[in-house]
Amino acid sequence: MHLSSLRLHDFRCFENVELAPDAGVNVITGDNASGKTSLLEAIFFLGRGQSFRQSGPRPAIRRNAEAFTVSGEIDVPGGRSHRIGIQRTRRAITYRRDGDPNTTRLDLVNALPLQLIDPNVHRLLEQGPRYRRYFMDWGVFHVEHTFFPAWRRYRRALRQRNRALKSRWPKKDVIAWDAELVRNAELVDASRRAYIDQLHAGLPAQARRLLGDEAVSLEYDSGWRGEDGLGHALAANLDQDLRAGFTQQGPHRADLRVTIASANARDWVSRGQQKILTTALLLVQAELLYARRGIRPVLLIDDMAAELGARYREVLAHEIAALGGQSFVTFLEASLVPEALAEARMFHVEHGAVTRR
Ligand SMILES: Nc1ncnc2c1ncn2[C@@H]1O[C@H](COP(=O)(O)OP(=O)(O)OP(=O)(O)O)[C@@H](O)[C@H]1O
Ligand SMILES: [Mg+2]
Repeated sequence: MHLSSLRLHDFRCFENVELAPDAGVNVITGDNASGKTSLLEAIFFLGRGQSFRQSGPRPAIRRNAEAFTVSGEIDVPGGRSHRIGIQRTRRAITYRRDGDPNTTRLDLVNALPLQLIDPNVHRLLEQGPRYRRYFMDWGVFHVEHTFFPAWRRYRRALRQRNRALKSRWPKKDVIAWDAELVRNAELVDASRRAYIDQLHAGLPAQARRLLGDEAVSLEYDSGWRGEDGLGHALAANLDQDLRAGFTQQGPHRADLRVTIASANARDWVSRGQQKILTTALLLVQAELLYARRGIRPVLLIDDMAAELGARYREVLAHEIAALGGQSFVTFLEASLVPEALAEARMFHVEHGAVTRR
């Protein structure tokens, strides 16, 4: 599965851009502020229905324009191709898959699984559990089918329980949600555990290729304390929840610790190593998705050379090329493009235009 054509209209600095990406590696070079990140952001919009920048989708509409459109064709091996698109006006966002006006964001996520590696990837190790849950759940979502419906029901019940807590409703109105919460929490937890086990199995080999002889391991935290299940944890913590005004335990508080040779990776490795380590995790996810569902996610790698010396750049480039899927990799200068990507399709971004080299 790969993106065989891409079209942008009034997206950030691009008025009209069309390109025909390769099914393998695509290298994009361009000066600062030429539009490299914006190009990856447009592809990300197509596969996730949202931006990876903090600012949200509206600022992506080109200055003085009314709306942006991003569309593309997805080729599925042995299957038929799909046209997907997204349009964002100042008021609304609409998604399209093969012209269907009822397309949802989830349809895009399923049509174009993609993963981003950018200079912020170290957040996965350094910052709060939100990023690690997002990382974990992306994989769980694509691989474990019971996950998403259970997660959705869990979120709904959690919202209701939190509303009861916040509004200081009687205890019985709070605990009325516990059974629904627990039932779905168990499904969410089981899918996450199954997924982490598979991730763990693939990790040593990938880490060895990227990091050398470091023993990397993952430690999953379900988000609640005690061995007796969430039901017990909720009951034992009810008074604290009532005081806090929200539910303090559950799968929405899960975490995934990454450790290297039994130290927490966050405290131990350098910036460059953190980038390599998180990239290894993302690559294992990509391999797992292929092993389980025959899907190679599209990889978006922004400013690959940032924080990496020549040796790590080469090692990483080699892994990306070896993965065999489609990827889009940006560099400030052609001189930074590793040898291992010499065969890639090359694009250059300048003055709002993308040209093939
Ligand atoms: N809504 C918008 N309308 C017009 N131009 C925009 C809009 N949003 C951002 N830009 C401009 O688009 C340009 C490209 O930004 P982008 O972040 O894609 O550059 P880049 O090539 O990734 O740069 P760097 O190498 O520094 O990361 C910038 O000059 C930015 O000011
Ligand atoms: Mg950039």
